[in-house]
Amino acid sequence: MGPEDLEKVLRLLPLDDLGREILVGLDTPDDAAVYMLDEETALVHTLDFFTPIVDDPYDFGRIAAANALSDVYAMGGIPLSAMNIVCFPCSLGMEILARILEGGLAAIRGAGAVLLGGHTVEDAEPKYGLAVTGRVHPDRVLTCQGAEEGDLLVLTKPLGTGVLATALKGDFLTEEEMGEAVEGMASLNDRASRAAVLAGAHACTDVTGFGLAGHLLNMLSGNGLGCEIEVSRLPLYPRAREMAEMGMVPAGAYKNRDFLSPMVEIHSDVDDVSRDIVFDPQTSGGLLLAMPEKALGVFAREMGGECFWAPIGRFTANAAGRVRVLP
Ligand code: CO
Ligand code: CO
Ligand code: CO
Repeated sequence: MGPEDLEKVLRLLPLDDLGREILVGLDTPDDAAVYMLDEETALVHTLDFFTPIVDDPYDFGRIAAANALSDVYAMGGIPLSAMNIVCFPCSLGMEILARILEGGLAAIRGAGAVLLGGHTVEDAEPKYGLAVTGRVHPDRVLTCQGAEEGDLLVLTKPLGTGVLATALKGDFLTEEEMGEAVEGMASLNDRASRAAVLAGAHACTDVTGFGLAGHLLNMLSGNGLGCEIEVSRLPLYPRAREMAEMGMVPAGAYKNRDFLSPMVEIHSDVDDVSRDIVFDPQTSGGLLLAMPEKALGVFAREMGGECFWAPIGRFTANAAGRVRVLP
């Protein structure tokens, strides 16, 4: 659901009796909740599921599971256990469902977590995802807030998965041709999360349905900061620019733009494709981190040579609550 509709619904919930154990709950824009058990242990709870964005059922399973696990990593946590959430038309055949769940299980095991169970519903359109429980030390929870003036904004996966998935649906691209994006979406944010914790990142979220602009705006809520990003630094998956130029921009990108554009200032020299990418809804995107420049050395070392990351902007004291998109 788009950010505008979701906000309307959540506004109707009475949320005035939050308990002291809730370290992160519905009153902040984080995608996972954190519940404190004792001084040493807090649990991280999250769930996510969606319709297939690639054709191969095994890849879809890996991607949907990696996407759900990501919200635990975004809180600086470690996944412990997962439950499958399945909607499936039985007419498609059980082999396909088995492949989806196999892919999901591979991602859960890759995260060092265990699959505990799940729930299945017969439905016209397949949907798959996970409810995940993780753990984190109560003093070391990363949230999307907490950025400080002068912090660098770091992104740990390329952008453009919404555009590529749209092109795939329209048969302008095969799944093989977007292989790098498929592997990117199926990969876990585990290493980036650990590197962020060790480097002392100030804030963290992950880039998913609300796009880079939407999730970045969550990092600005309530801390009086703005953020500048440079589109020349935005990393894109192969073919994403070409597909966006052909108009393969998902409806969700326009929904995001309509809702978010009052808070996003786009410099007149920014090209149309880069603007679309800023609002492109991502699936299983990278972590978006705020960290002081001096933390970058530790972060780079922990990420190692083969893990992607890129600094794409900076938090500023001016333009509070706004994202400025520069060429
Ligand atoms: Co998230
Ligand atoms: Co979600
Ligand atoms: Co049940």
